[in-house]
Amino acid sequence: MEKERKLIIAGNWKMHKTVAEAVDLVRGLKLELAGVKEADIVVCPPFTALCEVSKLLLDSNLRLGAQNMSEHPGGAYTGEIAAFMLKEFSVRYVILGHSERRAYHGETDALVARKALAAHAAALKPIVCVGETLEQRDRGETEAVLERQVRGSLAGLTREQMLETIIAYEPVWAIGTGRNATPDQAQEAQAFIRRLISQMYDESVARRVRIQYGGSVKPSNARELMSQPDVDGALVGGASLEVRSFVDIIKNAIAR
Ligand code: 13P
Repeated sequence: MEKERKLIIAGNWKMHKTVAEAVDLVRGLKLELAGVKEADIVVCPPFTALCEVSKLLLDSNLRLGAQNMSEHPGGAYTGEIAAFMLKEFSVRYVILGHSERRAYHGETDALVARKALAAHAAALKPIVCVGETLEQRDRGETEAVLERQVRGSLAGLTREQMLETIIAYEPVWAIGTGRNATPDQAQEAQAFIRRLISQMYDESVARRVRIQYGGSVKPSNARELMSQPDVDGALVGGASLEVRSFVDIIKNAIAR
C-alpha cells in the first residue's frame, strides 16, 4: 500500500514535569519547531499542566493531547477527568489504552473502546495504543495479541470515527528500555495492523489511518523507523522530555 499519510509525532510526557518545567519545555519546542508543517506535532503533558500549556499553544503549530480520560461524560467518578474538561483547554488528542494503563490500572480492550467512543463523541481524536509483551512475542503470539487488542479496543467505531483515530503500535518490551523494535519488526507489526483495519472496515480506511510506532524512539533511530511504509509517526516517551531530543526526532523523521 502506498503511503499517503501525514506523519504524526506525539510526546507522551507520562508522570513528569511540574507546570513550570512544562512551560519551559513548550517554550523551547515552539521556538525550534515554528513553521514545521510536514508533520502533525502533539505534546501530551500531565493533566496538571494542560491549562498553562494550552495558553502557550494558542499561536503555535503544536497541538495538545491528554494521556487518558474517563469513559463517562461526567458525574460522580472521583479522581477522573471527562472529555469536556479536556476540551476546555483545546485538547485535540487523547492517548487511550497505553500499556502502562493496561498493566497498572487494569484497562481492558472493552474499556478502551468505550473511552474511544467517548472521545469521538467530544470530537477528540484518540491515539489508541496496542502492543505485545516480550513473553507474548517469544511465544509467537504477537499477531494474535495485536488482533485481539485492535478488534477489541476499536470495537464499535464507525468508519468516520476510525478515520479520525490514530493507532500507536508500542511493543511493551521496547518501552523505556532503550531497545527499540527494529524497523523491520515495526513494519511487520504495523502492516499486520493495517490489514486488520482493512478487514474491519475497507481498503480505503486502512490506507488512510495513521499508525504510530512507540518504544525507545530516539533521534538516532527516528529516520529509519519513519521510513517504513506503514510507520506514520511516533509516540515518544523519554526522548520527548527534552527540547533537543524531541526536536531532533521530528527533524530526522521529516527528512526521511
Ligand atoms: P519511551 O519512548 O520512553 O520508550 O516510551 C514510549 C511510550 O510509552 C510512549 O507512549
